[in-house]
Amino acid sequence: MNKQIKLAPSILAANFSILKNEINSVSNADYLHIDVMDGIFVPNISFGIPVIKSIRPITNMIFDVHLMITKPHRYIEKFALAGADIITVHAEVCENLQDDLRLIKSCGKKAGVAIKPNTEIKSIYSVLQDVDMILIMSVEPGFGGQKFLPIALEKAKSLSNFLHQNDFLQNNIDIEMDGGINLSNVKLVVNSGANVIVAGSAIFNFPDRTKKILEFREKFSC
Ligand code: DX5
Ligand code: ZN
Repeated sequence: MNKQIKLAPSILAANFSILKNEINSVSNADYLHIDVMDGIFVPNISFGIPVIKSIRPITNMIFDVHLMITKPHRYIEKFALAGADIITVHAEVCENLQDDLRLIKSCGKKAGVAIKPNTEIKSIYSVLQDVDMILIMSVEPGFGGQKFLPIALEKAKSLSNFLHQNDFLQNNIDIEMDGGINLSNVKLVVNSGANVIVAGSAIFNFPDRTKKILEFREKFSC
């Protein structure tokens, strides 16, 4: 599978007091990864619909919205209207995962399903026909700046093999990995089959983001 590798800086690691500048500082990346947390599914609260709505007009970047919220079907249409392009829900907290994915598609958006480090990759095989992207968490969701969990690599490999062996290649399903990814481990992540790479602190903790993003891209190509 030779998919284009996409880099998605996570604004969770940005300085919110100058959010517009922070977003513009990563405009040479592919997606903007937007972490929404409800304080119930994860032990943290970030931001929600009004923030997404207010940053929508300032950039053309693709908004990759990662919903870490319980029963996400309640808010999917609102996130779509606010300007999300890809909406990812967690398999662990959907009342009906397939219905939720179809709801995202019916809003004209790309549908993603995410799993936590302890959730088996097999648990989402039954919805592969309804997904554009699978997000494999490589940290426990809730916070940026955590250490990468290698179990995510095994899951991505199993998933890539499964997609190959079961004729899902023409479906063009992306594999995203999120949490603890940096310049030292990103090559392993890409080699495991992931092609959408989220990085928060490994980009926003450095003053020259344009350069950092180029350094990531160099790792993809070597
Ligand atoms: C964690 C979030 C991640 C996080 C990644 O719950 O889903 O997207 O922002 O941050 P880093 O790259 O710092 O681990
Ligand atoms: Zn995320």
